[in-house]
Order: sequence, then C-alpha cells, then structure tokens
Amino acid sequence: MTTTLIDGIGLLYTGDPEREEIPGAALVIEDGLVAWTGPAAEAPDADERVDAGGRAVIPGFVDSHAHLVFAGDRTAEFQARMSGEAYTGGGIRTTVAATRRASEAELATRARALVGEMLAQGTTTVEIKSGYGLSVEHERRSLEIATGLTDETTFLGAHVVPAGTDADSYVRLVAGEMLEACAPYAKWVDVFCERGAFDGDQTREILTAGRKAGLGVRVHANQLTEGPGVRLACELGAASADHCTHLTAADVDALASSGTVATLLPGAEFSTRSPYPDARRLIDAGATVALATDCNPGSSFTSSMAFCVALAVREMRMTPLEAIRAATYGGARALRRTDVGWLRRGARADLVVLDAPSYVHLAYRPGVPLVHQVFHRGLLLEEDIQNHPADVVL
Ligand code: NIG
Ligand code: FE
Repeated sequence: MTTTLIDGIGLLYTGDPEREEIPGAALVIEDGLVAWTGPAAEAPDADERVDAGGRAVIPGFVDSHAHLVFAGDRTAEFQARMSGEAYTGGGIRTTVAATRRASEAELATRARALVGEMLAQGTTTVEIKSGYGLSVEHERRSLEIATGLTDETTFLGAHVVPAGTDADSYVRLVAGEMLEACAPYAKWVDVFCERGAFDGDQTREILTAGRKAGLGVRVHANQLTEGPGVRLACELGAASADHCTHLTAADVDALASSGTVATLLPGAEFSTRSPYPDARRLIDAGATVALATDCNPGSSFTSSMAFCVALAVREMRMTPLEAIRAATYGGARALRRTDVGWLRRGARADLVVLDAPSYVHLAYRPGVPLVHQVFHRGLLLEEDIQNHPADVVL
C-alpha cells in the first residue's frame, strides 16, 4: 500500500485533544487513513511526498447540520427580512411546494451541487436532512437522494405541519407510516421543536418512535424562543441539540451535564438578523459545542464552514481555537463519530491544506477563499472540485 507524507506543514491543527496543535509538522497517509502525525523532523519515510510549503493543515470540516434536498428559491423572503420582516419559519412551506413539484433527478443534481460546493470549501463530512417533502413519498424520496451523498442522513418529517393537515393526525403519520418508510434510509430522527412547529409532547412522541425504530436522536431546539427542546434532547440522549439560541439556565445545565452536543448555527442568526446564541456561556459551563452551516434555502443559505467559524469568533466571542475545534472535533461529536473530525492515527485522512500559516486566518481573513487542497479519504481532490464530485460520498 502506497504511503504519502505531507510535510512542510507550518501549523497542524489535529483536532485531537491530546495534542491539538503541532508547529512545523508532518503527517503520513496510508490506505486512506492517518498513519502518523508529529514534528516534521521526526517523520518516517513514505513512498510519496507532498510539500505543504509552510501552510496550515486542519481536519476536513464536519458540517453536522444541513438541509440540502430542496428546490425553489427564497430570495424574496430574504430581501423582505433585510427590509425588516421577521423570520418565522413560515417559508418552509414555500420550499415544500417547490420540492414536491421537482423531479427526483433535479433534486439530486441540486443537492450534489451543494455537496460539491461544500467539498471545495473544505467540508469532508456532512449531515443531510429531509424535511421539505412532508408526505410519506416525498420524505422517503429526499432521504433516498441524501443516502447517495452521505452516510449521515436525518429524517425530519416533523419540520412543520404541512398546509391542509391537522397537527395531531400529522404527528401520527410522522411517527407511524412515514417513519416506517423513511427509517431504512435514515440514521437519525430530528424534530423542529418550536412554537408554530411541534410542541414538547409532539416532539417526544416522534423522537421516541424514531429511537424505537433504531434511529439516533437530534433536535432543532430553542431556535426562535425558549422552550422544551433542549431539555427533551438531553433527556432522550440526543447526540445534538441544534440552534440553542434561546436558553434558560436549566437548559445550559442540562447540556453541560449530558452527552448532548450544543450545535450552534450562526449562519441562521446572520441571515435572519437575529441575536446570536451565547456560546461563551455554554463553553464556560462545560458543554461540548459544535458549529455547522444549517445550509438551507430559508434561514441560512451558506455552505461555508469557514464563514461560520468567522462569525463564531467575531459575533459569538469564541476564540479561533474554540471555533476550529467546534467545526471539526465538535461536529464529529455531534454525529457520534470518532473516525472524522480529528487527525490522529487511525482516523480518516480527511484534511484541508489552507493557503494560510494558521487556522486563525479563517477568522482573521473572513470571506477569503483559503482552501489550497482538500484530501478526502486520503485522496487529493482535483482542482475545480465542485464540478466533478459525482462519485464522492461524504
Ligand atoms: O434549521 N428551523 C427550522 N429549519 C431550518 C430552516 C428551514 C427554512 O426556513 O426553510 C433551520 O433554520
Ligand atoms: Fe436546520
């Protein structure tokens, strides 16, 4: 098996809490995995050598929250918000109508294009949710498309109650026939627990049914208002409570004392012009924090983890180290993965060579494309990545 040595790494951010940063580093890839990391002077021999030229290397970003299977466009809704209108989540139904009208081929092409966009920006693991179908057949179709793109697929039939349906019968459908049709294509179940979407009892019913069907639990919790979402997530052993924008002291305690990761999605606050979550309070309390894009056509149409890192640092007072950790290691914890999100022996060789001497530049140089090279499963992705990711499953 061929081994590849990447040396000349100015600063290696490993994501491994045991040795997070190594200046003047090298890394060896063997069989798609990381075989060795350490100071360049101690690097073992390898069959091939890549010179990073003093650039920084980080693990590929782990984007643990994205909604990529959809059709339609909500530019006008964004424009209206930027003229003062509030975000309510009501636009979800606009995307549902467009998604139902679209062909499977169109949906798959659009989703794959977004995955290509993500890869080109250094994301090597992505979670993809359904949630714009809201019927048995349309949710199943969305998840089937998602399984062609990632192993991290999430059934979000409980995004909102579709127009023309009463809430109780929809909850029964989601927890029954829809779950049964979707579970074979999903690893996770998620509910938008929010005023105007699903309340605590409805959320509990759906998540419990999902868990019984063998799915892991994650929750859209406390995005627009305080509510029961975060505490339910912790109580039910969810891998992640996502958004966490409006938290009580009890919510923060619950997150800090459970295995549930607090996934923060600052792209949503940016694009809805809302107050950001209090990351400092969560980190200082001892909660594990992840950052993700929430890429979707309504509340956060960005595929850039680097942008989220910059927002986290500037707007949420996370240090650059906390932010890169949350975008890699934190995302992996939110997906309960130990094979990605860090660069240590045995992990998947998913890494990004940055056109910068340090990961700090992700926040210091916001909006600047800093991705020099992306390695995915040990393979260097070719230039112009976004135009030919057809066989890549993240
Ligand atoms: O995570 N909050 C619920 N779902 C998405 C937004 C979906 C939309 O507006 O289309 C979110 O922000
Ligand atoms: Fe979301």
